[in-house]
Amino acid sequence: MLKIGHRGAKGYEPENTLVSFQKALDMQVDGIELDVHLSADGETIVIHDETIDRTTNGKGFVNALSLCELKAFRIDEKYEIPTLKEVFDLANQDCFINIELKSHEAAEKVVTLIETYVAKKGWKYDRFLISSFDWNALQQVAFLNDKIPIGVLTETDLDLALAFAKFIRARSIHPNFHLLTKVNTAQIQVKGFDVFPWTINELEDIQKIKTFNVNGIITDFPNRI
Ligand code: G3P
Ligand code: CA
Repeated sequence: MLKIGHRGAKGYEPENTLVSFQKALDMQVDGIELDVHLSADGETIVIHDETIDRTTNGKGFVNALSLCELKAFRIDEKYEIPTLKEVFDLANQDCFINIELKSHEAAEKVVTLIETYVAKKGWKYDRFLISSFDWNALQQVAFLNDKIPIGVLTETDLDLALAFAKFIRARSIHPNFHLLTKVNTAQIQVKGFDVFPWTINELEDIQKIKTFNVNGIITDFPNRI
């Protein structure tokens, strides 16, 4: 059962920062999950919200600010907003990277960055997993490069997610953990898809979901798995 650190190790360090991803690596995760938006000048930026208001000392939409402008703001007074490339370099293939596309526009840039790491650095495609609630963005990824593993995110509808996963030949389904039962987990797995539920933090919930034999757990507290 794979241990996947949500926004790094969000339970211990500020989400989506290099220090949070390092903490997750220190906890021997199999994978890290992160969120990506595009900056005004087309850089892939690791941040959850469409604005920088909640997590930094600045204000504004990520897609209205350049990389240089974004780098001037601070998270918890000391950390920079990382780029996706910086996280790839930190992880250095020690774990896989689950990239959640928060904007449809980021799909092409993320695919190109992954292709660069595969072609120039010899990284394996299985070190990446692109997921999104925006299934059009996932379809675009599948169209651009069918070797990149895809995870179908769903908050509400497992059957629809399963049908779409078959259609785009995804690797995995990423449901809100409240949707899962032991029976529907097995039904998804028998069709050939991994099940990676999110975001499971309480020990009681972790114990329960483990009995469903899911393939991995996305959590803010990787050391609890
Ligand atoms: O990828 C799983 C989970 O991160 C999706 O929800 O809002 O935490 O990005 P959110
Ligand atoms: Ca996410």
